[in-house]
Amino acid sequence: MKEFKLSEAALPMTTDRQNLKTALTKEVLQKPVPRHVAIIMDGNGRWAKEKGRTRIKGHQEGARQVKKIVRFADDLGVRFVTLYAFSVENWARPSFEVSALMRLIRTYIVRERDELHAEGVRFRLVGRLDELAPEIQRQAEISAKLMEKNTGLTLSLCINYGGRAEIIDGVKRMIREGLPPERITEDLMHDYLYAPDVPDPDLIVRTSGEMRLSNFLLWQSAYAELYVTPVFWPDFDDVEFLKAIKVYQDRERRFGKTGAQITANST
Ligand code: FPP
Repeated sequence: MKEFKLSEAALPMTTDRQNLKTALTKEVLQKPVPRHVAIIMDGNGRWAKEKGRTRIKGHQEGARQVKKIVRFADDLGVRFVTLYAFSVENWARPSFEVSALMRLIRTYIVRERDELHAEGVRFRLVGRLDELAPEIQRQAEISAKLMEKNTGLTLSLCINYGGRAEIIDGVKRMIREGLPPERITEDLMHDYLYAPDVPDPDLIVRTSGEMRLSNFLLWQSAYAELYVTPVFWPDFDDVEFLKAIKVYQDRERRFGKTGAQITANST
């Protein structure tokens, strides 16, 4: 396990919260942490409304939180983080909000590039990227190329992403390549997804309380543990992340087997 280093939080935490973070961190590091955590970052709009701010401000705060959570996940030894930042359905939002989100995403890619690279992160965008603005595609390619050989945490940012679209795109590619039906297996389907080198998520977190997947990682989520918290994404700090991991660690993953089989195999 990676040596744990407490990152300096960008916003000061109260002493109580810092103490809670220290205690939870100690506890969480006693057990294996999930290899791959995927997050549906929801609630930026409600966070903003509650505070009398604009929705755009909510997304800006959400983007700040991305930076902190990625760093903290890395500190804890999580190997893959996948974030749902913009779905294929999100184009239907008011155009000023879509533009603001695209600006934030572009800024994130450019501003964080050197720091992510210095930390050994492997970064890429995931989704129907050819439909994005050429400048975002260009910046994403620069980052992906720069970091492709890095061996640290893999950060996948899902943009213009839909789980159904991903499956359809994979099936179309199989047909185009002339694959016969008898060659099609679950493993092969995985190879035709957008990020075949990323294992299925162990834990999917959704903030702000909604109990649904909203077209996120539909194929890959088959055996993922789900954790839903009422906390809005901009408030989802290190302590909230630790709580999600702790709940995950206390679950029994059975993959279709019985509880007795799992216990027998682990002794
Ligand atoms: C859902 O909140 C959030 C989104 C659709 C966008 C997520 C984007 C970010 C966290 C910021 C940009 C990301 C990066 C990586 C820079 P919502 O707007 O649906 O909230 P609501 O349901 O409360 O209205």
